[in-house]
Amino acid sequence: MLRKLEAHDIREVVKIHKTELAGFLSQLGEDFLEKFYKASLKIPEVFTIVIEEKKQILGFVSGTTKLKGLYKKIFFRNPFGFIYSLLIYFITHPKGIVKLTKTMVYPGFESDIPELLTIVVAKDQRNKGLGKKLFLAAVCEFRKRGVGKFRISVYERLPANKFYKAIGCKKEKEFDFMGEKMNYYKYGDV
Ligand SMILES: CC(C)(COP(=O)(O)OP(=O)(O)OC[C@H]1O[C@@H](n2cnc3c(N)ncnc32)[C@H](O)[C@@H]1OP(=O)(O)O)[C@@H](O)C(=O)NCCC(=O)NCCS
Repeated sequence: MLRKLEAHDIREVVKIHKTELAGFLSQLGEDFLEKFYKASLKIPEVFTIVIEEKKQILGFVSGTTKLKGLYKKIFFRNPFGFIYSLLIYFITHPKGIVKLTKTMVYPGFESDIPELLTIVVAKDQRNKGLGKKLFLAAVCEFRKRGVGKFRISVYERLPANKFYKAIGCKKEKEFDFMGEKMNYYKYGDV
C-alpha cells in the first residue's frame, strides 16, 4: 500500500534512510534525521510517500516542488533541536563542519526546479518493482501539485543511475559535488 508519511512512521523511515543511503544527512545520525522528517511534515512543498506491507515500511520517496530555501525552512521548524543534534555531531566528528559547509553549496539549493529528494527501498525488497511504484507515486503527486517535470541528482557511483534510466529519466548534465561526480536527470515533459 502506498500512502503519505505520518509521524508514527518516522522511526522506521529513518532506519531505512540511515542504513541504505550513504549521503551526508545519514552521517548526521538518527536523531537529526528524525527531526528532519518530522519538520518536513510541516513544509507544504515537501511530500514523502511510503510503501507499506503487513504494517512494515519497505521504502519511501520524497520530493519537493521547490528546493530553494528548503533546508532553511526545515531548520527554522525546530532550530534548537537541530542545533543540539549538530553540536553533538560536530563534537564527535569535527571535520563534519567542513562537510556541512560544502553540502550547502549544492547547486539545487539555489534553484526553483522541483526535485525528487530521495528514493529508497529496503535492501531485501529490491528488484520487485517497489522502486518503480514509489517513483510513479511521486510523479502522480508532482502532477497533483501542477508539476509536470522534475529533476533528480545522483552520485555517478551509485547503481541507482541504472534505475533512473530504466524508468525513463534522461540524463541532463554532470557536475562535481564535494569532489565526487554527480548526475542530474530530468523526468517529465520538457
Ligand atoms: C534505486 C532503488 C530505489 C530501486 O528500487 P527497486 O525496487 O530495486 O527498483 P525496481 O525493482 O522497481 O526496478 C525498476 C527498474 O529499474 C531497474 N533497476 C533497478 N535497480 C537496478 C540496478 N541496480 N541495476 C540495473 N537496473 C536496475 C530494474 O531492472 C527495473 O527495470 P525494468 O522496469 O526494465 O524491469 C533501490 O535500488 C535503492 O533503494 N537503492 C539504494 C538507495 C539509492 O541509491 N537511492 C537513489 C539515490 S536517492
